Amino acid sequence: MSRPLPPYAAGAGDQEVERIICASMTTGSDGLFAQMEAIRASALRHNPPLGLHAVLLCQAGWFVHWAEGPHGSTGALMARVREDPRHHSQRVVHQSRGKRFLQTPWSMMLSPSGEPAADFGRRVTELRYMMDRGRQFAPTSVIRRLSAPLQLPLPDGESDPEAFHRVGVCSASPNGAFDLVRWLAHRHDEAVASRRFAGEADMDSGSDYVEFLEDGQPCRVIAVSRPGLLHGLRRAFLPDWPQLLMLFSGQPRHDAALMARVAEACENLPCTPTLLGVAASASAHSTLARQAAQAGLDYVATDPVSPLDCAAVWDRVREHLRNSGPPPSSVWALPTPRLAA
Ligand SMILES: Cc1cc2nc3c(=O)[nH]c(=O)nc-3n(C[C@H](O)[C@H](O)[C@H](O)COP(=O)(O)O)c2cc1C
Repeated sequence: MSRPLPPYAAGAGDQEVERIICASMTTGSDGLFAQMEAIRASALRHNPPLGLHAVLLCQAGWFVHWAEGPHGSTGALMARVREDPRHHSQRVVHQSRGKRFLQTPWSMMLSPSGEPAADFGRRVTELRYMMDRGRQFAPTSVIRRLSAPLQLPLPDGESDPEAFHRVGVCSASPNGAFDLVRWLAHRHDEAVASRRFAGEADMDSGSDYVEFLEDGQPCRVIAVSRPGLLHGLRRAFLPDWPQLLMLFSGQPRHDAALMARVAEACENLPCTPTLLGVAASASAHSTLARQAAQAGLDYVATDPVSPLDCAAVWDRVREHLRNSGPPPSSVWALPTPRLAA
């Protein structure tokens, strides 16, 4: 199956939305979580009737607000929010039109980073500087470059700062994906980074990632919990991962439930990852491949291996990465005409 191309234009029957991301500085540093909860309450009152979906991040004295909605709605939202005394210096760092990335009305992340606001601000300025010169990045890349930029050196001669492998991992057993990330961190002597996400009502979804060099290429592996797969911000990142590794347990009911969860998470997204299935027996793959095909998802059955054998699992992934070539670029053209923001 061929992957659709950015900026993922809406097809016949799909609604086209405007996508916009603004960064702004928080006015104070106290009670930020309470502020975010209050903003969430306002947003859930105002946004859904207008077809607006949004994500709010707060980190290092900055808010990052990603909104998507019908034509004209995002400019009006950002103009209203600009007047809010809880922040200042609002700057647009992405704008595009196409299919929705944000499938849920609201999700948010408060990151406990100790980074100085000036360092975060330098990344905002850099994104804005590039935009002013006609070069911008996918919305997911903008969020990542601001909140969790790659810490590894790029290969020589590589100028695209987002040209690194990204592999999501989920598992039918409770800890399988997180165990693999821990194992990779141990093997490469790297630290595991953790993030917590909140949706419309809760604050309960966790995600861990690790990054390391694999065959000279930077690689980030991100573990997602099964409930986390349905969180708005997490779902929005599925198009950003060329591959999603699925560790099956060998228990048909649990494995089918994981595949159903992934199919639900991928529904209506502009682009979906290739599913890399790992199972202890070849026979487990046929039902799962059928289930994936019914959901319109690409499924690659790896050679049988125990999902608990991290070294053998990673060998399969590594082989796939070698065959799949260099990671896709995240550089996007700016829309013409530009959005009014
Ligand atoms: C960074 C930031 C993002 C915000 N995002 C939204 C939003 O998506 N939708 C919304 O209605 N209000 C949002 N707000 C709050 C609005 O500025 C405004 O306070 C609120 O909508 C007022 O509505 P209310 O009086 O009904 O609470 C945001 C505020 C800030 C500081």
